[in-house]
Amino acid sequence: MKGIVLAGGLGTRMHPLTKVTNKHLLPLYREPMIYYPIRTLVNAGIDEILIVTGGNNAGDFLKLLGNGKEFGLKHLNYTYQEGEGGIAAALDLAAYFADGDKIAVVLGDNIIEKNIRKAVEAFKRQERGAKILLKEVSDPQRFGVPAFEGDRIVRIDEKPKQPASNYAVIGIYMYDATVFDVIKTLKPSNRGELEITDVNNHYIREGTITWDVLDGWWSDAGTFDSLMYAGNMVAKTGANKLE
Ligand code: DAU
Repeated sequence: MKGIVLAGGLGTRMHPLTKVTNKHLLPLYREPMIYYPIRTLVNAGIDEILIVTGGNNAGDFLKLLGNGKEFGLKHLNYTYQEGEGGIAAALDLAAYFADGDKIAVVLGDNIIEKNIRKAVEAFKRQERGAKILLKEVSDPQRFGVPAFEGDRIVRIDEKPKQPASNYAVIGIYMYDATVFDVIKTLKPSNRGELEITDVNNHYIREGTITWDVLDGWWSDAGTFDSLMYAGNMVAKTGANKLE
């Protein structure tokens, strides 16, 4: 399985912090934010990794990460997203890299306490489709939110005003190679983006999605408050624990 870290977009929500640098290079406790999603993949046993970046500071990723020696990698791959067409648009740029393999995708601003090793192993055995991870949260309206019938997810609503559950679909997704055909069928949402939630809803309709609840804490770091929260949690408990 191959891994993809999505670190494109312009981070306009976080001006002025992101006026002269990319959001994923901002400090999260002792390290730049992008270190954490890279470790999420490496700790799951994935060593072929593509970083999708964008904006004016893409070259800084190369300076910072090089070939990923710090993560025990021999090589890192990079590609460039123009503008911010959405998470699914950024993922589309990884089609050549995936080259028919299954992929694990991590949003560049998603930080986890533990690891996703078991979920990745389970998805390797899954015949086809997608796998998503959920976490119970107090503010589901900020995220993609699953609606359940019993144990089955019947749809995901993106940032609903009235959430159908208290769960967030976190920014770690696993797909088989059909994902790139699904992305081709998407239309931009109200916010003008190709939405990853529309991709996931496709697999729900097809009946080929599985889900797990993530173990340990999870946070995004894409707002001032969540950046501070994630930094404090990393300082308190550490992140990307192997056990
Ligand atoms: O954090 C989990 C949430 O992430 C999910 O629950 C939502 O369903 C999903 O839509 C997403 O929501 P956000 O609105 O918080 O995503 P945001 O636009 O902040 O983008 C998150 C990361 O995705 C960002 O750090 C880099 C990457 N990205 C985003 C966009 C819009 C790209 O690489 N390119 C893009 O064009």
